Amino acid sequence: MQKIEQLQKKCWLDAIKKNYKAIVFTADAPRLGTRERDERNYFKMPDHLSLGNFKGTSFEKFDDYEGSSMNMHSDHLFDPTLTFNIITWIKEKSKLPVLVKGILRPDDAIKCFENGADGLIISNHGGRQLDTAVPTLKQVAPIRQAVGKDKLLIVDGGIRRGTDILKCLALGANAVQLGRPILWGLGYDGQIGVELVLNLLITELVESMVLTGCKNLSEITSDLVTKS
Ligand SMILES: Cc1cc2nc3c(=O)[nH]c(=O)nc-3n(C[C@H](O)[C@H](O)[C@H](O)COP(=O)(O)O)c2cc1C
Repeated sequence: MQKIEQLQKKCWLDAIKKNYKAIVFTADAPRLGTRERDERNYFKMPDHLSLGNFKGTSFEKFDDYEGSSMNMHSDHLFDPTLTFNIITWIKEKSKLPVLVKGILRPDDAIKCFENGADGLIISNHGGRQLDTAVPTLKQVAPIRQAVGKDKLLIVDGGIRRGTDILKCLALGANAVQLGRPILWGLGYDGQIGVELVLNLLITELVESMVLTGCKNLSEITSDLVTKS
């Protein structure tokens, strides 16, 4: 198994060579959540595919592993001992802004910014880590309240319609991210499919703004969302 230090070095070099603009550090996966279907089906990477961002390392292919081969990565590459200090370390090494992904609690959000984070992604990993984890939409307002109006907050998880984007922005997010809809677009028609997904969402967001009387993004305010 290739040394972790070598892999880290490759990551920093890639970041410089490929002109990365920021690093997103995923904080909600100290280990992989159990994925019963992957275990049951002995999930393996199909032979004709490999992991592009691990090219040239021993992590490029999923090894033959007991149960799901997804566990190979978490068993060898995930470090459950990391603390908030890691944010400073990544910033020092990469010289890039660092966004922490997978934050759901206001107190964790505050600690991330105290440790130098440049932004947060409020995320429950698309519900793929811990079953019954809190929906991200519920955590936007409390986290915004805790960190103040100027910090960068992005939200993901279950964004499927323009109205979902409107609600996230109304509750205090600066932007949203998409996971599965991008994959569905890709499967449907490659790049064109992805563009279709993005254009549909923009069209729906604009429609929801028109129908709620918002002329621009700054008019999307929290009073648009009520508790049922
Ligand atoms: C197939 C798949 C693989 C993913 N792998 C990762 C990963 O390696 N690291 C990570 O931080 N999030 C990963 N995610 C979670 C996404 O980054 C994102 O948080 C989530 O998909 C957002 O929810 P949505 O799919 O409902 O839009 C993955 C999601 C999917 C669907």
